[in-house]
Amino acid sequence: MEQTTQPTPKKRILSAIKPSGELTLGSYIGAIRNWLAFQEEYECVYCVADLHAITVRQDPKELRRRSLEQLATYISSGLDYEKNILFIQSHVPAHAELSWMLGCYTMFGELSRMTQFKDKSAKNADNINAGLFTYPVLMAADILIYNADLVPVGDDQKQHVELTRDIANRFNGVYGNVFKVPEAFVPPVGARIMSLQNPESKMSKSEVDANGCVLLLDKPEDIMRKFKRAVTDSDREIRFDRENKPGISNLIEIYAAATGITREETMAQFEGKSYGDFKPAVGEAVVELLRPIRENTERLLKDKGELERIYKEGAMRAAHIADRTVAKVKKKIGFIV
Ligand code: TYM
Repeated sequence: MEQTTQPTPKKRILSAIKPSGELTLGSYIGAIRNWLAFQEEYECVYCVADLHAITVRQDPKELRRRSLEQLATYISSGLDYEKNILFIQSHVPAHAELSWMLGCYTMFGELSRMTQFKDKSAKNADNINAGLFTYPVLMAADILIYNADLVPVGDDQKQHVELTRDIANRFNGVYGNVFKVPEAFVPPVGARIMSLQNPESKMSKSEVDANGCVLLLDKPEDIMRKFKRAVTDSDREIRFDRENKPGISNLIEIYAAATGITREETMAQFEGKSYGDFKPAVGEAVVELLRPIRENTERLLKDKGELERIYKEGAMRAAHIADRTVAKVKKKIGFIV
């Protein structure tokens, strides 16, 4: 007799970026680039985390522009909006609802230990709001609401995924197997792209020195200028050594990530070459990496109607999964549903 086998359901991925500033080379190499690799094998859910952006004050017009631009960038980087679910977080209210519930299963002490909270409250001393503190709970809700198996993030978000696992385990410990306990995926190369001007700190959209941060939509001449001015050291060797040669190590990391080779291959390729040769070569590799993204994003942003169709469809598909999880959680907790 012929046997019918059920296809195994695909594993699911969830990740997000907050539109609190322009996207950077760091967010591309640390996150989006890796998302692309998963779209065949996994069911992927990627969101524009606008709820997360308001822990620091945002100009409403700018937030709207950046949210749309970020969605367009996801698509222009190569994420297929039919294969993946692409949406804007605030369009799926279930995230905020689950976040409240999970907050009651998260400890004050756990949130106080989050390094990002400590960093950000030091930087925003005049606005240490409750959202800044409870932000990792919302991130846990983003992940657990889709029963994600894997969460691709850069190094700085690993601690938040660890906390998500703790929250899921705690909740499951009380109510049975409700949430899938997710794993973080941190890429072997490019998990921590550093500032070009201050290679001891992360390249970030909130960086003070604009030359330290390469934006995803920067023009080629700006990218080249930033790399030519990148801080290096007085040594002459192109060698990976984060501790003693942070500037050069960061450039090696960027070159390897941009061209898809390893650090060792990069070092071999530039053996005996000077910093004066290497810096523009890294710039050129990044220009080529980002060129199609910038051109496609510009094109996509001209068709607002198409983008609206995409995010509405994405929100509907996301809500379909998210609402079911929230209903299950409410039932387990003891709410009348
Ligand atoms: P965000 O918006 O700060 O950063 C988005 C993603 O980019 C990575 N990243 C970097 N990777 C390498 N080098 C860098 N310099 C660099 N800068 C940023 C981050 O690690 C991240 O993967 N809370 C999150 C957004 C979020 C989220 C989620 C992520 C909201 N909900 C659920 C995963 C799952 C954040 O602020 O990332």
